[in-house]
Amino acid sequence: MAKKILVIMGHPSKNSFSRALADYYIEGAGKNFEVKSIFLSDIKFNPILIDGYSEKQKLEPDLIDAQEKIKWAEHILIIYPIWWTAPPAILKGFIERVFLPGFAFRYEKGGKVNKLLNGKTASLIMTTGGRRLWYFLFGWIMNKPMSIGTLGFCGIKTKKQLFISEVRKVEYERANRIFRNLRRLGEKGF
Ligand SMILES: Cc1cc2nc3c(=O)[nH]c(=O)nc-3n(C[C@H](O)[C@H](O)[C@H](O)COP(=O)(O)O)c2cc1C
Repeated sequence: MAKKILVIMGHPSKNSFSRALADYYIEGAGKNFEVKSIFLSDIKFNPILIDGYSEKQKLEPDLIDAQEKIKWAEHILIIYPIWWTAPPAILKGFIERVFLPGFAFRYEKGGKVNKLLNGKTASLIMTTGGRRLWYFLFGWIMNKPMSIGTLGFCGIKTKKQLFISEVRKVEYERANRIFRNLRRLGEKGF
């Protein structure tokens, strides 16, 4: 059975570089794996979790569908730009609305956390305006809230992280190289 991969595209725009990266990855991955996707630019939901966990907030149909896809996936690739050293608000909001207690984790008696998404893996691909060397050296530290604090808390192990840096001035030739690379990463199920 082919590995089941879910691609989450975390940029709010329908015309972003992240979207193009996701499209190329999906094209490559489709050759060797079962692939589903969630493009946050295309789904309808309120990214604000209003009452935290004290009141139940009704899930929009697109979020119910997102939970089904997350349950289905063995591997999750998340692609997003770095905005103010973090994921864009829409991706943070998506996580807050979807990775709920009872779905992603459960507190047991004594305060132990039951990681309900155990066994799944993830990879992160992020675009940055900042310098390549900086992200090579420090990006993985900056990403701990996503890799350990969020995904790890729910049992999803982040296997790989790739920063595509200095994208403000990507010229035609470099863009093509990056897109070819994304297709190859898809073929390998990065
Ligand atoms: C609101 C905002 C905040 C940003 N903050 C950062 C940042 O903290 N570090 C960084 O390297 N680049 C930052 N950038 C640059 C983006 O990472 C870069 O524009 C993006 O990766 C390009 O992808 P896109 O064309 O798909 O938006 C920021 C851009 C925006 C719009």
